[in-house]
Amino acid sequence: MRKHIVAGNWKMNLLAQEAETLSNAIVAYIKQNQIEENTEVILAPPAIYLKELAEATEPFAKLNIAAQNCHQAASGAFTGELSAPMLSNIGVDYVIIGHSERRLYFQESNEVLRQKILSALSNDLQPIFCCGEDEAIRDQDQHEDFIAQQLKESLFDLEASEIAQCVIAYEPIWAIGTGKTASSEQAQKMHHFIRSLIAKQYGNDLANSMTILYGGSCKPSNAKELFSQPDVDGGLIGGASLSADQFIPIIESF
Ligand code: 13P
Repeated sequence: MRKHIVAGNWKMNLLAQEAETLSNAIVAYIKQNQIEENTEVILAPPAIYLKELAEATEPFAKLNIAAQNCHQAASGAFTGELSAPMLSNIGVDYVIIGHSERRLYFQESNEVLRQKILSALSNDLQPIFCCGEDEAIRDQDQHEDFIAQQLKESLFDLEASEIAQCVIAYEPIWAIGTGKTASSEQAQKMHHFIRSLIAKQYGNDLANSMTILYGGSCKPSNAKELFSQPDVDGGLIGGASLSADQFIPIIESF
């Protein structure tokens, strides 16, 4: 059975005290509750909190930490950036790569993202690779071609053993932070399409073992229905991950 994941992407939110209160609440929940056998919770805080959170969550196998980005080079003169070896070295487990906000505001191309994925993989970080179309592309009914291109240019050069380490997050841009969620049918259709592309490239067994998350205005009221779709293996949660009262019910949606 493939892994279910609920991941919270805090983006550029929460001051230190707030981050501590939230992470304490999640840690307490994980300590006190039996999480489903094949389910994992991931927190992706701003980089400044990564080390502390990686240490605090280290004892809990089902609670892991993700960075929101990494640079493609291992080290060097890249002021302001963080490398995959640095993240790995402080106990970070995953790294989000290719979030639409990184693509849009920091001009990250499919090619740069391909390089970031390679750097993550060679440093024992599992990439959470984001893909997703904007509203205009969906309106033109080009969304499947667009996603296929993102996957082809950033992921499909990987060896089977490498792509097996990746998690994919489908995050339609029109649903991010807008309150406008993809319907469960829209999410299922795209997740099934993504899985079929992986199957074509790498075979059915690998495709069926890969975790594909949905992201975009996922909240307690819609998580259950989204996660009940056969190809939706969990969520990458933005706004609703900033409060334990919202995030915990999403974890409980499986
Ligand atoms: P929202 O849940 O706030 O729509 O954000 C989704 C997202 O971008 C997670 O990476």
